[in-house]
Amino acid sequence: MSENKIETLRWVEDHLEMIDQRILPADFQYISYNSALSVADGIRSMVVRGAPAIGCAAAYGVALEALNFQDASVDEFSKGMEQAFKILLQSRPTAINLFWAIDRMRSKMNENISLTPKKIANTLLSEAHEILNEDIEINRKMGSFGAELLPDGARVLTHCNAGALATAGHGTALGVIRSAVEAGKKISVIAGETRPFLQGARLTAWEMVQEDIPITLISDNMSGHLMSCGEIDAIIVGTDRVAGNGDVANKIGTYMVAVLSKRHNIPFYVACPLSTIDRSISSGSDIPIEERPIDEVTGYRDYQWAAEGVSVRNPAFDVTPADLVTGLITEKGVIFSPTTEKINNLFNSN
Ligand code: MRU
Repeated sequence: MSENKIETLRWVEDHLEMIDQRILPADFQYISYNSALSVADGIRSMVVRGAPAIGCAAAYGVALEALNFQDASVDEFSKGMEQAFKILLQSRPTAINLFWAIDRMRSKMNENISLTPKKIANTLLSEAHEILNEDIEINRKMGSFGAELLPDGARVLTHCNAGALATAGHGTALGVIRSAVEAGKKISVIAGETRPFLQGARLTAWEMVQEDIPITLISDNMSGHLMSCGEIDAIIVGTDRVAGNGDVANKIGTYMVAVLSKRHNIPFYVACPLSTIDRSISSGSDIPIEERPIDEVTGYRDYQWAAEGVSVRNPAFDVTPADLVTGLITEKGVIFSPTTEKINNLFNSN
């Protein structure tokens, strides 16, 4: 199997290309990006989405801007870069990977600040490539730890899309499923459609169908019924940010699934690269929750079905308390029943 079948983001000659995830699965198309501003727009408008993919995109946004200023004076270069960091930081608020990747790019720039803008730009481009390649490697490691948790024949519910499309490749939650299938296990997936943006129906279903991994689509309000009928053996989701105590922010609707899993005694796993753990906040109540445009709820694309004049809420994420989490699957191993202490120990271990 090729290491990276779905190239969510790719560097082509002198620019970034990203699959337009807004139009999948009806159309498959790459869009080209050549500045921090255009990448920030791609993140905000959900051309690219999913925490690790957003981080990779932001890293390339920084590199692109540095390349745009590589022939400028040192002063112009610094001003241009500050503006790029600012624009990218404002693109989406919840996924910590965005801030993590920008911090890493800023540190790389500062380490090399005595070089010419051209040399700094090339260093930043290499760093962006490294972030992308590391992401695939990390997903593979999480995949092998997570695959061991799934029994042969497991029917696994997932919510949203935490697949190759949400990362540089392989995926986090879907990476665990892919790794279990590669290890010879018979796994079938149940995907919640993930209203309102339909990441489950459009993206997770598309990814699994591409690879002939059996998948059944349900609307989000059906998962409790299937759990009560004994039709779900495990749940695996991705995450946008995990607080220092193990509280998990993920796509809206995840919390409902986690509560139901507790009731039905079904393991609830979160595939979580260490870059998604934000130890600067002690609990999930400090995680900023993005509110998205209301037309995502009142209809889909050009079609509006809700009554004119109705008031609408559209929080894009919710927080699942750590005590509902069976395990955080990381690239350094699984943290069962996560707590602040266990998370800190994992960070401090070799
Ligand atoms: O709004 P999105 O599509 O960016 O939300 C994505 C999710 O909630 C994913 O589950 C999360 O980012 C983990 S992706 C590996």
